[in-house]
Amino acid sequence: MTYLEASRKQAEALRGRTGVRILALETSCDETAAAVVEDGRRILSNVIYSQIDLHELYGGVVPEIASRAHMEACARVVNEALAQAGMRLSDADALAVTFGPGLVGALLTGVNHMKGLAFAAGKPLIPVNHMEGHVSANFLTHPELEPPFLCLVVSGGHSHLVEVRDYSEYRLAGQTVDDAAGEAFDKAARVLGLPYPGGPRVDVLAADGNPRFLSLPHPKLEGRYDYSFSGVKTAFLNAVHGMEQRGEPLPKADLAASFRFAVCEQLTEKAGLLLRDRLAAGEKPVMALAGGVSANRELRRQMTALCEELNVPLCLPRTDLCTDNGAMIGAAAYYQLQKGDIAGLDLNAVPALRLI
Ligand code: KG4
Ligand code: ZN
Repeated sequence: MTYLEASRKQAEALRGRTGVRILALETSCDETAAAVVEDGRRILSNVIYSQIDLHELYGGVVPEIASRAHMEACARVVNEALAQAGMRLSDADALAVTFGPGLVGALLTGVNHMKGLAFAAGKPLIPVNHMEGHVSANFLTHPELEPPFLCLVVSGGHSHLVEVRDYSEYRLAGQTVDDAAGEAFDKAARVLGLPYPGGPRVDVLAADGNPRFLSLPHPKLEGRYDYSFSGVKTAFLNAVHGMEQRGEPLPKADLAASFRFAVCEQLTEKAGLLLRDRLAAGEKPVMALAGGVSANRELRRQMTALCEELNVPLCLPRTDLCTDNGAMIGAAAYYQLQKGDIAGLDLNAVPALRLI
């Protein structure tokens, strides 16, 4: 029997069983993260090794450095995740790994590491889409949440408004026509002279600022639920450069607050349009957030206010589960396992993998 045939049999035997423990690894960007998750909902361990120190000097993620650092950290982080869960590799029912989207070298490091472990231990290997992982972080924080629900997926490379019809089944409602929200935050941070990664730092700086200091444009778009952040970003850059040229001191907190407010207002407004349309159609929508930008405090505040106003249940992942982690990969993997979605040893990294 080949490895894949044996894996299929095991996956079949695991279907519908409880107490299924999945060891997951995430290496798509600059975090080497491993976790053990039970039944897609309970975190038994969640270990994150961040490479921020290694990339800070360069103002962004350097792919070569990321791959090398993942290679050095994978075994240690995986062993730590097993140890914290009080398990050995043989105790895991299945293994899971992010295979895209992300940096090809970084992804390959994780994929190859887990292929090796899965083969050696004779366990099924579940290939997980990183963005599906972000959406699944909600299952870890909200045990009662089940599809269908709507989800605003906002990260460094994505700003999507999606309908989660079932586990692993998505429909696109709207998306950014240019920059992703996280990307825009990172660019604004750079202009303000804040070190990488900028998004969280803009968020902190904005806490003491006046969001009405700078009035930023509101894009008009054809797609009813689509986003655009390039106009906001350019207006922001021009305003900052203008102040610098005039020799004015930069009121950084006010600038950060204005930028944060404009981005979050647009995200919330489009989510609000979609929710109102669904309510008008007689549906009872449930809203969730996902991705690094969903850690943003202003976005959480605005979305909470919106959902309270509309009387729509809102799921916010725990802040540490919004950014990249292994537990979200383990959560997504559980539902894929239920559908028999497992990989063979020919699994490859897919850097431009899509959610929809
Ligand atoms: O989901 P994530 O960790 O990685 C990707 O899959 O892209 O998202 C990272 C992005 C970065 O652009 C980062 O600046 C942004 O999320 N981010 C934030 C915050 N925390 C992370 N942006 C705004 N406010 C935050 N608190
Ligand atoms: Zn991510």
